[in-house]
Amino acid sequence: MHASLFLTAIALIPFAVAAPRHPSFHSRRDGENTSAPAAPTCDLGNVQQPASVLAPPTGLQLVLVALGKGTQNYTCADPTAAPAAIGALAQLYNASCALAGNPSASTTSLGSIDESASIGEHFFVDNTTPDFDIFGLGNTQLKKVQDASAPKPDSDVKWLRLQAQAQGTTGGVKMIYRLNTVGGVAPATCAGQAAGDVITVDYEAQYWVYA
Ligand SMILES: *[C@@H]1O[C@H](CO)[C@@H](O)[C@H](O)[C@H]1NC(C)=O
Ligand SMILES: *[C@@H]1O[C@H](CO)[C@@H](O)[C@H](O)[C@H]1NC(C)=O
Ligand SMILES: *[C@@H]1O[C@H](CO)[C@@H](O)[C@H](O)[C@H]1NC(C)=O
Repeated sequence: MHASLFLTAIALIPFAVAAPRHPSFHSRRDGENTSAPAAPTCDLGNVQQPASVLAPPTGLQLVLVALGKGTQNYTCADPTAAPAAIGALAQLYNASCALAGNPSASTTSLGSIDESASIGEHFFVDNTTPDFDIFGLGNTQLKKVQDASAPKPDSDVKWLRLQAQAQGTTGGVKMIYRLNTVGGVAPATCAGQAAGDVITVDYEAQYWVYA
């Protein structure tokens, strides 16, 4: 395990140096002893959630930060209605190492994640029951218990605090926060849509998973 992490770190160095669009890696490496780069520990122990009004995960342990990429889905009752949320579908990628190495990284700067390897899927069981099926962490069904406007609320979906429900949950996950969202907000109206049409809006988010 350690050996492969170390090799990953080595492999990332030329990439980081050659890719100035990843300033996070760059600035981190600049100050370090490049003759003996430390292997990333991917230890989430010191990673702090981005500031928000959401209640903190008291007494829980951060076990994963996943990058979610997919669509938020809405439907239209008729062309004069407002779009109504009917869930989302997203692939999940393991962002724990990226966050551990750069705790303040926002969604868009997580460029080092290997997106060929999905670690699970986020979907909805019904309109109000998000589900996360994650390799190694089981299946978790949750309910929204709190939300907060994103810093750019016109384009980015709200930040959420989701609480695991006993029903449909097979592992130890207790709470999932949706943070650092990008995109996903519905158009203001259903103009141009027929009754029953589904609108899908691309989004990304960090899912902070606690057990
Ligand atoms: C850099 O790493 C090398 C090899 O581990 C070590 O000998 C050297 O003292 C380190 N230099 C600094 C400034 O930490
Ligand atoms: C949401 O949209 C995706 C296409 O991005 C689709 O595959 C999925 O079935 C939709 N889910 C719901 C609940 O509408
Ligand atoms: C995420 O990656 C870290 C570091 O490689 C690993 O320890 C952890 O088990 C992974 N988590 C999942 C859910 O794949």
